[in-house]
Amino acid sequence: MPRSKETDELVFFVNGRKVIEKNADPEMNLLFYLRKTLQLTGTKDSCGGGNCGACTVMISRYDPISKKISHFSVAACLVPICSLYGAAITTVEGIGNTKTRIHPVQERIAKGHGTQCGFCTPGMVMSIYTLLRNHPQPSTEQLMESLSGNLCRCTGYRPIVESGKSFISSSSCCQMNEKGRCCLDQKENKPENKSNVCAKLYEKEEFQPLDPTQELIFPPELMRMLENPQKKILTFHGERITWIIPSTLRELLELKTEYPNAPLVMGNTALGPDMKFKGVFYPIIISPARISELLAISKTKEGLTLGAGLSLAQVKTILADVVTKLPEEKTQTYRALLKHLRTLAGPQIRNMASLGGHIVSRQPISDLNPILGVGKCILNVASKGELLNSLIGGNASFILTEQTMGKKVNFISQSHFAESDNPWEFVSAFRQAPCQQNALAVVNTGVRVLFKEDTTTIADLNILYGGLGPTTVNANKSCRQLIGRCWDEGMLNDACRLVLEEIALPQSAPGGMVAYRRTLAISFFFKFYLDVLQQLRMRDPRGYPGLSKTLISVLEDFPLAIPQGMQSFECVDPQQPPHDPVGRPIMHQSGIKHATGEAVFCDDMPVLAEELFLAVVTSTRPHARIISIDASEALALPGVADVITAQDVPGNNGSEEERLYAQDEVICVGQIVCAVAADSYAHAKQAAKKVKIVYQDLEPVIVTIQDAIQHKSFIGPEKKLEQGNVEEAFQCVDQIIEGEVHFGGQEHFYMETQSVRVVPKKEDKEIDIYVSSQDAAFTQDMVACTLGIQKNRINCHVKRVGGAFGGKASKSGLLAAVAAVAAHKTGCPVRFVLERGDDMLITGGRHPLLGKYKIGFMNNGKIKAADIDYHINGGCTPDDSELVIEYALLKMENAYKIPNLRVRGRACKTNLPSNTAFRGFGFPQGAFVTETWMTAVASKCHLPPETVRELNMYKTIDKTIHKQEFDPKNLIKCWHKCMENSSYSSRRKAVEEFNQQSFWKKRGISIIPMKFSVGFPKTFYYQAAALVHVYTDGSVLVAHGGVELGQGINTKMIQVASRELQLPMSYIHLGEMNTMTVPNTIATAASTGADVNGKAVQNACQTLRKRLEPIISQNPNGTWEEWVNEAFTQSISLSATGYFRGYEAHMDWEKGEGDIYPYFVFGAACSEVEIDCLTGAHKNIRTDIVMDASFSINPAVDIGQIEGAFVQGLGLYTLEELKYSPEGVLYTRGPKQYKLPSVTDIPEEFHVSLLTTTQNPKAIYSSKGLGESGMFLGSSVFFAIADAVAAARKERGLAPLLAMNSPATPEQIRMACVDQFTELVPQIDSEGCKPWSIPVA
Ligand SMILES: Cc1cc2nc3c(=O)[nH]c(=O)nc-3n(C[C@H](O)[C@H](O)[C@H](O)COP(=O)(O)OP(=O)(O)OC[C@H]3O[C@@H](n4cnc5c(N)ncnc54)[C@H](O)[C@@H]3O)c2cc1C
Ligand code: FES
Ligand code: FES
Repeated sequence: MPRSKETDELVFFVNGRKVIEKNADPEMNLLFYLRKTLQLTGTKDSCGGGNCGACTVMISRYDPISKKISHFSVAACLVPICSLYGAAITTVEGIGNTKTRIHPVQERIAKGHGTQCGFCTPGMVMSIYTLLRNHPQPSTEQLMESLSGNLCRCTGYRPIVESGKSFISSSSCCQMNEKGRCCLDQKENKPENKSNVCAKLYEKEEFQPLDPTQELIFPPELMRMLENPQKKILTFHGERITWIIPSTLRELLELKTEYPNAPLVMGNTALGPDMKFKGVFYPIIISPARISELLAISKTKEGLTLGAGLSLAQVKTILADVVTKLPEEKTQTYRALLKHLRTLAGPQIRNMASLGGHIVSRQPISDLNPILGVGKCILNVASKGELLNSLIGGNASFILTEQTMGKKVNFISQSHFAESDNPWEFVSAFRQAPCQQNALAVVNTGVRVLFKEDTTTIADLNILYGGLGPTTVNANKSCRQLIGRCWDEGMLNDACRLVLEEIALPQSAPGGMVAYRRTLAISFFFKFYLDVLQQLRMRDPRGYPGLSKTLISVLEDFPLAIPQGMQSFECVDPQQPPHDPVGRPIMHQSGIKHATGEAVFCDDMPVLAEELFLAVVTSTRPHARIISIDASEALALPGVADVITAQDVPGNNGSEEERLYAQDEVICVGQIVCAVAADSYAHAKQAAKKVKIVYQDLEPVIVTIQDAIQHKSFIGPEKKLEQGNVEEAFQCVDQIIEGEVHFGGQEHFYMETQSVRVVPKKEDKEIDIYVSSQDAAFTQDMVACTLGIQKNRINCHVKRVGGAFGGKASKSGLLAAVAAVAAHKTGCPVRFVLERGDDMLITGGRHPLLGKYKIGFMNNGKIKAADIDYHINGGCTPDDSELVIEYALLKMENAYKIPNLRVRGRACKTNLPSNTAFRGFGFPQGAFVTETWMTAVASKCHLPPETVRELNMYKTIDKTIHKQEFDPKNLIKCWHKCMENSSYSSRRKAVEEFNQQSFWKKRGISIIPMKFSVGFPKTFYYQAAALVHVYTDGSVLVAHGGVELGQGINTKMIQVASRELQLPMSYIHLGEMNTMTVPNTIATAASTGADVNGKAVQNACQTLRKRLEPIISQNPNGTWEEWVNEAFTQSISLSATGYFRGYEAHMDWEKGEGDIYPYFVFGAACSEVEIDCLTGAHKNIRTDIVMDASFSINPAVDIGQIEGAFVQGLGLYTLEELKYSPEGVLYTRGPKQYKLPSVTDIPEEFHVSLLTTTQNPKAIYSSKGLGESGMFLGSSVFFAIADAVAAARKERGLAPLLAMNSPATPEQIRMACVDQFTELVPQIDSEGCKPWSIPVA
């Protein structure tokens, strides 16, 4: 077939406007095109791999045959623009904006406080918007499904769900509340009727109604174009790739014959990531999206035939329809497929991914292939240019080898499902993933059995697994051996044994978790065994005995419920003037702009003339000498401006301990060695791959804490705190326990990756730096030292940060300095935005910790002595590791008074990327160890853990371990209130009753108290400054030294200024933070940002007000504008700086004492969970949090911080797992491998209440900083899981576990609930065998 050399015009619409792209590049994705070509930067880039939903947009397509328009959400980062011919795209900018009208979805997410940093918000908006375009009255289930592909790292999801819920009419109620009441019924959500307690964070009544008639229509021009297609084959030639779109099946067949190796791109969800992340490359790509045969659906008596081009979402809808119309025995395969289609990826991916692409991409964990295999799906294929009716299928042989697909078979056109109405055939499917939704399965299976008629003798059996090999694997041999066996326990036991023998998994198998995966394989078969028995029973109740209630519970999956909850806080004094916003739940200052996509983040700024893009080359060795760097090939590539190495640094290349560019030596995998600056990021990245570095490996390579201890590799000296006489106390206790517990690290996963833009100016060496950093002054400092220039030439601007959580304190300064060297060398502006994978690899995270303990206690649970030892894995440079270990020690006692206590701690230096600050800063790790031994003591004393906790808690005014006096009154209050709010005693009883009835599912409940000390150990860290200008029109501009990270600091500062100046908030504006306006700032960290900057803003405003007072008293009835003008005419300055010197704080480590913290935040959380002992899954049933926030300046912001931190903590303690190779290579470099909580992981019931009538004289307006503390309360979920595991172990006659490591993943839970299946799996002898991954704590 002759190929057109000319490139066709690509025509599509974006937000109602026609786009004609004359040079469409097949390598360009929609996200890039929107952001960089069309300047529509509302759609965000966060993971680039379809996993986070930040780039969600709506695509609408018109089908000229059916004349129907369909709307669906997609992940723009995986949509090649060439696939958009004839499509209409709607982005967040297209649905509303602040200049014309905002859309109800945008309004409700903002006013409902569903946005903090705002980086995820446009994606959330577009997911809900698309839902409403398809279902203006959605159900709760549809809402949850629509959000399940979107991640948010800040809010904890509850307010986002609430905003979405506001579109659900009560007629589509979930009936999920107790007593069948609707979860939308707000009357249910009222706290007890106390006059000073409020429960309303926003006014629902203010919301504009949804009016579907106002939405953008599908462009009529596009309809006409699609009805009268001009051209047959469309061809788009790019720099490296040609994209061909045939219009008929014949053309497709010819193309496939001409280019047998060209892939067919349907959803691009498998091919796209392969090309982007794995370097797979095809010069020709064929897109069969217009071939109607690939989209055909036909239903006959024999079965269902589905075009291979149908999306998984379409397949799901078709199957959901079919199962309602056919008798149950005919739909077993369909139901199994449907079950997995509900959890396979998020809706964006299901809308894109095709059935054919799914089958052929042969992912090792394909959820559908095992079912298609056992369900004997038949594939119609095209081969050698011919469309064959024939058939690859039956007995799972359709799971094609790559060779078959590439050479013999051109493509799959259709999949045919034959419907068996044999009542003796049974098909089921099971999967287990790290979390409920949007996570790849660890293991999945499709199983089918056919009995000889009227018997339970196996006539045929198929078991296929995913997750146990490089592709779907078939337990063929085992199945053959089981034919003729009766469906009984003997068969079950033999089946398990045979499967384990047949499906071997070496200890070094990629993915690790070998014992768990093998256990799951046979646990699933057990499920199937019971499932079949249950179905037999249902069909013939008299012929087959029923399953016991205990066994039935094995078959029950956790239902997906919509979260609901109540938030209560202290009302403002009724006498407070209405314009005084302090204490009111004011919406985030940028909330609406987040929701419309108008909020500008660092990488949203337009590209400047001559701007260059930076891609870094990182070390592939953990410890090696750099022998040579050869950049010649890279430099020869198009668009490459320069390659920058350590030699190009004009000033200091970092410090001896922490280099910016590696110098002579590398000390971890992921260390920056050099950087390529080019005219586009794509060019920079391509060139970076061509830089050749020769290394000489060095010894030792230290990866784990144990390695570091062995090599005496430490950062800083050991730190110690001690009180009482520990040795003596151990002599007079009833019992002593000793143990250790391992605590894994955590990735910050701020949704906006590290981003910086360095703009050198023409004169005087001045530089502007736009950076996503929580420490602008440190960034300025780093750049000044690196370039050898004075700080007064450098202005660091931070408008807003898309989440930071500690990860953008030191690291962003280093990265800015790396970019500054490139800008210095090239003389051009340089943009340096890390891809998610590089960000996770390079920037480190929370410190993993190894805790050892020896505890002496009395039989009544009173702890008399504790000797504790901590080591953290600091990685390869000091960063903040010494401080983190200090904090871990200072805060480790949590809420407990241990009279004789010694704690020692040390940071280990290893060859991992350097770990850094992270929300909670050592407390979540250190206090976790404390709660571990509290639980262990309770277990040893046969007492409920809460009894031991309460017994050992501080009760009266006392001194902490570092001898700082404090009053625990509010700690006790929180504890009791939490007990009361959660109905702890009755629910503990209910949990026990549940557990008595259930062997395979267990519930656990736990209540954890918290004493969190806020702040830094040095006075000067608390200083803050502000600058307030009043202009002659009366408007006010506030600047302060804090950074808006999503935590609402700017909103609070406006509230402060409003109160102090006695002006409505509408008069006050807060622009960006920069180092020219407010110099020498301290990092916005340690929960103190609003406290200290609030004091500075207050100080400036009070100065101004004081200056105006004489004028006001002369004209008390004047207006603000009149007073301001009068002041101006009297030459009174209308600008004032404000300053807060800081709290007194000191720590003497020699003496082990210090008054460090200005105040403490107290709290308590009670969580209840249910675990599935057979799979390790768990479900968060309910959490109640009580916090002592004193008087909250903004309850919406503070409750948002508590909820968001709690969910981040829940991730830390139960889900998020970093995996490293034995050589220290981080495997988990994206949300595909590293799971963070998504909307379906939060507690079904989630209540937060703030204590009322409490005081904190130290902080502004008696408030408290709440940024970090909620994180630790996530541990209540961990200890609830531990409680459930303890119940399971007790019932199984096993000794209690004294410690479970964190996180409590499904693997840990399953393997702790030892049973006949775990015991069948041979113990792994790891001697001489290298595991795939190792724990580094
Ligand atoms: C974020 C994310 C989450 C995911 N989660 C899951 C999950 O939980 N469970 C799961 O099972 N999978 C999951 N996947 C994998 C997903 O199911 C597959 O990527 C998808 O089904 C592939 O379909 P596609 O149309 O996008 O294929 P494409 O990427 O378009 O193509 C993939 C391959 O299939 C070939 N191909 C496509 N159509 C045909 C055809 N008709 N005939 C012959 N060859 C063809 C192409 O040539 C190409 O080689 C996930 C993927 C992503 C990106
Ligand atoms: S950026 Fe596209 S899904 Fe994450
Ligand atoms: S608001 Fe969702 S990621 Fe920040």
